[in-house]
Amino acid sequence: MSDEIESPDVLKRIRIVLSAENTGENAMQIIAVNGSPHGMAGNTGTLLRAVLDGAENAGADVETFSLANMDVHPCRGCNVCHKTGECAIKDDFQAIRNAMLKADAAVLASPNHIFNVSAQMKAFMDRCCGLLHCQALNDKYGAAVVTSGGGGEAEVEKYLLRFLRAIGCWTEGSVGAQTAQLADPARVAAVMESAQRLGADLVADIRERPAFLDQEREKTAFAERMKHLVISRKDEWPFEYAYWRKTGRL
Ligand SMILES: Cc1cc2nc3c(=O)[nH]c(=O)nc-3n(C[C@H](O)[C@H](O)[C@H](O)COP(=O)(O)O)c2cc1C
Repeated sequence: MSDEIESPDVLKRIRIVLSAENTGENAMQIIAVNGSPHGMAGNTGTLLRAVLDGAENAGADVETFSLANMDVHPCRGCNVCHKTGECAIKDDFQAIRNAMLKADAAVLASPNHIFNVSAQMKAFMDRCCGLLHCQALNDKYGAAVVTSGGGGEAEVEKYLLRFLRAIGCWTEGSVGAQTAQLADPARVAAVMESAQRLGADLVADIRERPAFLDQEREKTAFAERMKHLVISRKDEWPFEYAYWRKTGRL
C-alpha cells in the first residue's frame, strides 16, 4: 500500500477483487461464535441473530456456537499447539476450530465485560493462538457483534476486529448496541437493520473476495511478524514451521 494513503475511513469501501466471483455453486459457510453467558437468548445473541438472518437471506449457510453451552477452557500456555498443531486440552474448542477452518467467514459476538470481551470469548480467542501464528484464516472474512449496558461497545468491537485480522481475516465491520437501544421500540429497528446489513455485506465479501486496502498494511506487517517468529522457533515449533512451508508462504 502506498504512503500517500492517509484516510482509512475513505478507503474502507475500496476493494480489490482477489479472485473470480463465487458463482453460488459452492455453499457459502459462515460460523458464528457467541461469547455471551446468556447464549442466544441474551442481548448479544439477539443482535447476532439479526446479523445471521442478514447472511442467511443473502444465501449463506450459518453455524452458531454458543460458548455458554460449551466447554472451552482457558489456554494453559503449554505451547503444544505450536509444536504439534493440536491443543493439549481436549474440549469443545476443536469442533469450533474445525468449523472455522472450513468456513468462508467468522462472526465473533460478545457482551462488553468491563471494557473487554467476556471471559468465555477471551478463553476461545487465546485457544486460537496456534491459528494466529499460522495465519490459518488467511483471506477469509470476519465481522464482530458487541452489546453493552451503557457504553464502550466500540472499543470491544475494535478489539474483536483486530483479533480477526490477526488470524488472517479481512474484516467487513461490526455492529454494536446498548441495552437501552435494544429495549426501545423507537430505536431497535435501526440497530437490527444495520446488523442485517452487516450479515449481507459479509456474504457479498465471500462472493466477491475483496481485499480491503485500509487493512492491508496492518495485516501484512502482522503476518511478517508471525513468519519471523515461526522461523526463529522452527526447532521448538516444528508444526508451525512446516505449516508455513506447506502453504507456500515460506
Ligand atoms: C461481568 C459483566 C461486566 C460488564 N461490564 C460492562 C461494562 O464495562 N460496560 C457496560 O456498558 N456494560 C457492562 N456490562 C453489561 C453488559 O455488557 C450488557 O448487559 C450486555 O448487553 C449483556 O449481553 P448479554 O445479554 O448477551 O449477556 C457488564 C455485564 C457483566 C455481566
